[in-house]
Amino acid sequence: MNQRRLRANRAIRELTATAIPDYRRFIQPVFVDESLSERAPLATLSGVFSESKNSIYASIEADLANGISKFLLFPVPLKRGEPFDFSFVTSVLSDLKRQFGDRIWIAADVCLCAYTSHGHCGILSNDGSRVLNAESVSVLAQYAVELAKAGADCIAPSDMMDGRIGAIRRALDETGFDTVSIMSYAAKFQSQFYGPFRDACHSSPNAGNVLKDRKTYQISPANPSDALESVRRDAAEGADIVMVKPATHFSDLIYRIKQEIDKPVAAYHVSGEYQSIELLAQHGLADRASAHVEIWTSLTRAGAEIIISYAARNARKWLE
Ligand code: PBG
Repeated sequence: MNQRRLRANRAIRELTATAIPDYRRFIQPVFVDESLSERAPLATLSGVFSESKNSIYASIEADLANGISKFLLFPVPLKRGEPFDFSFVTSVLSDLKRQFGDRIWIAADVCLCAYTSHGHCGILSNDGSRVLNAESVSVLAQYAVELAKAGADCIAPSDMMDGRIGAIRRALDETGFDTVSIMSYAAKFQSQFYGPFRDACHSSPNAGNVLKDRKTYQISPANPSDALESVRRDAAEGADIVMVKPATHFSDLIYRIKQEIDKPVAAYHVSGEYQSIELLAQHGLADRASAHVEIWTSLTRAGAEIIISYAARNARKWLE
């Protein structure tokens, strides 16, 4: 047996490579922070910036020049607490759509963690002991409609409340936004790897001693059946794209979803996963581009069609 014949030179390696990520199926997350007057580097996400309402245009122009046209928009609003005010992100969104039209595709994150005073993804009961499901879903559905009105191409609910996909789908259909798609964070796990993101969005849960983490709504990494059931349910409720998040150490789920459900799967290589690679590279322990490409290749091999990465804007360059 000579396996090395297939590895012998670039030509034969190219001929036999089948798990090849395509930059056209990458989504670039973008933060837009109301408190900023110009773009600001994120201390915990190397090479990533938070944009201001004005700086975001140049950033998107640059991405378009690099072949990246799909974005996942995360707002960091100034005002937190009820009644929720979604006007910052809706004004950013409608301005962007006015400027760029169909040259860009924007998925708008739908969650309350950047809006609640306590940083949880939904509304808390009066005693602070529970995240209320029905109350949260009803606000999320209203929020989704406001985003669709502002021009969102896709709604991406990341809150992990039960029944939100069905509620959002109904609300969008009833208001005439039946062509706005839903990318559901269906298999979203409770994880240590969201740290840099929460830093950027000031969205760490801080509701005192009662609910210190998101374990009562995000999926336990030890419960793969729960993740599969959540994906089946979201698909049945009308999700067009289902997501697995984090990506690398949950790629078994990507593979299993592809076996069972005929929906596009998005893998979200989250902030902590991204930053681990950045830190390795900064210490000279890995080549930055090659390391990201290796991860993207593994997600493609597992079956993910769509990759969400903080390094997406380099995808065309690095994959060529
Ligand atoms: C908020 C949300 C989170 C991420 C995306 N949307 C954080 C969380 O659930 O605490 C994480 C993204 C990342 O880490 O890159 N619902």
